[in-house]
This record gives sequence, structure tokens and C-alpha cells, in this order.
Amino acid sequence: RTVYVNGEYLPETEAKVSIFDRGFLMADAVYEVTSVLDGKLIDFDGHAVRLKRSLDELEMAEPCSQQELLEIHRKLVDLNGIVAGLVYLQVTRGSDGDRDFVFPAADTPPSLVLFTQSKPSLADSPESKRGAKIISIEDIRWGRRDIKTVQLLYPSMGKMMAKKAGCDDAWMIEDGYVTEGTSNNAYFVKNGKIVTRPLSNDILHGITRKAVLRLAQEAQMEVEERLFTIDEAKTADEAFTTSASAFVMPVVEIDGATLGDGTPGPIARRLREIYLDEAR
Ligand code: PDD
Repeated sequence: RTVYVNGEYLPETEAKVSIFDRGFLMADAVYEVTSVLDGKLIDFDGHAVRLKRSLDELEMAEPCSQQELLEIHRKLVDLNGIVAGLVYLQVTRGSDGDRDFVFPAADTPPSLVLFTQSKPSLADSPESKRGAKIISIEDIRWGRRDIKTVQLLYPSMGKMMAKKAGCDDAWMIEDGYVTEGTSNNAYFVKNGKIVTRPLSNDILHGITRKAVLRLAQEAQMEVEERLFTIDEAKTADEAFTTSASAFVMPVVEIDGATLGDGTPGPIARRLREIYLDEAR
């Protein structure tokens, strides 16, 4: 695989970042995941705009222009012959060569790393046909989940808790209300109405969420953005999640309760179809 590191395209075994990089020592880094279908990037502009916002919120310098970022994405997709899969991008604050809680001088160059992952079955994964099983766990993450940082230890542990329980993923709960999934936004459907948590600092402002809510409204589906409990989701007609890496993923079980007939619901299936149609 060819990867990109700070201006260079290199074989992955030759790519290097300093061990003093604050991304490595302090998770002082932000990232984006853009999916690729039929060799085309999906919603690159949305991801680039969110990246800029994450960088601004953390007073981190932009590593290069949005146009340059697009060119790097395209070149990596090309060089690695990615038909379906994703491009991972990470910007870290870099380092002045020591470990220090104080940020390095503002002119310290950030590190920019990108690599691709090929996923030939991205558009028709077995999980999307079967539907995901979800457990609920407490949300103990920090308070700025709207910034896409690489602090993914707790979400990763949540995913492991789900796996140990024979499930696929976890939804997190704070103050009695569902925030989001470990790496996706969460929704349920009751009597035809789609319900999802409103945007705030408590959740990531999903790029797929924005597209799916627009498509739902265009298809005359009813959407309500409000706080909801896991009990509401458990007794819903159907549920689903959205993310760049899984698009619209139907959910068929929550904390052991089967939703509907235990197969992907009609609204989740329809939204997945409309989303993929538009993406292609
Ligand atoms: N995760 N919420 C969280 C906590 C996420 O990590 C993600 C994305 C989303 C969905 O956002 P989007 O639709 O922009 O992908 C919501 C990426 C895919 C990941 O970590 O791999």
C-alpha cells in the first residue's frame, strides 16, 4: 500500500512520524474518514469542512489547502486502485521534540497522514443485510464529542464490550438519553417517524447524518430531532445508525430486545438505498 506522510507518497513500511508527535503521546490529533464507492470519494467537501472546524476548535494549523487535500485523496485512491473502501486522514499538532503539556510554538508544522483501506463489500456488507445487534453502555467520553479527535479508546472498549456480549456495536447513554453509537449516529423509527438526537457538543455532527436527514425529508419522511431514551429505541418499530464507513446500518436488536420482526426495517432499507443511489 502507498500512504501519504507530510508531502510524500511512500510504501507503508517506509512512512515515519516522530515518537514525540503529540498525536502519539497525547491523542492531540483529529481525523476524518471518507468513503470511496466505484472509485469516487463520497461527500469530500463535507469532511473537509468538518476537519477545518475540528482544527479551529483546537487551535491547530491547517496542514494544507482543501484543494490540496482533495488531490492527495484522489491520488491515493488511484495509486492503490481503491474501488470500494475508505480514505483515512489524520492531522496531529506535531512536536518540537519533547513531551510537554504546553502546546509547541504555533509555527510547529502539523503532521498530515493519509492511507486507504480497500473494502470490496462496502456497499453490501453481510451486516447491513442481517442488521446490527446493539448493547447500551454508559457514555463516559469527554465533553467535546463534536470535535473529531483520535481519542477513541472508550469507543473501542465499547465495541469490545458489544463483541463479548455477542453483539455488533454499542450505543452510549448520558443522563438517561442516548448520545450516539461508538462510531456512528443513532436513530429509531416509530409510527413512520424518524427520531434522532439534535446536534450539540455531545455528539459528532455526522456527515452521513446530514445527508440522510436531507434525503429523508426529500422523500417526505417525518423527522424529529430530540433527546430519546434507550427504552424508546427498544420498543421502536425499527432503528439504524449512520456513518461514512457503513452508510445506513439497520439495527435489529437492542439490549436483547428484538425490533419488529428482527430483520432490517423498511425505512432503514429505503434510506440506505436512496443514500447509495445518490452517492453513485
Ligand atoms: N466514525 N459518531 C461518532 C462517534 C463517529 O466516530 C462517527 C464516524 C459518526 C458518523 O459520522 P460520519 O457520518 O461523518 O462518518 C458519528 C468514523 C466513520 C470512524 O471513526 O471510523
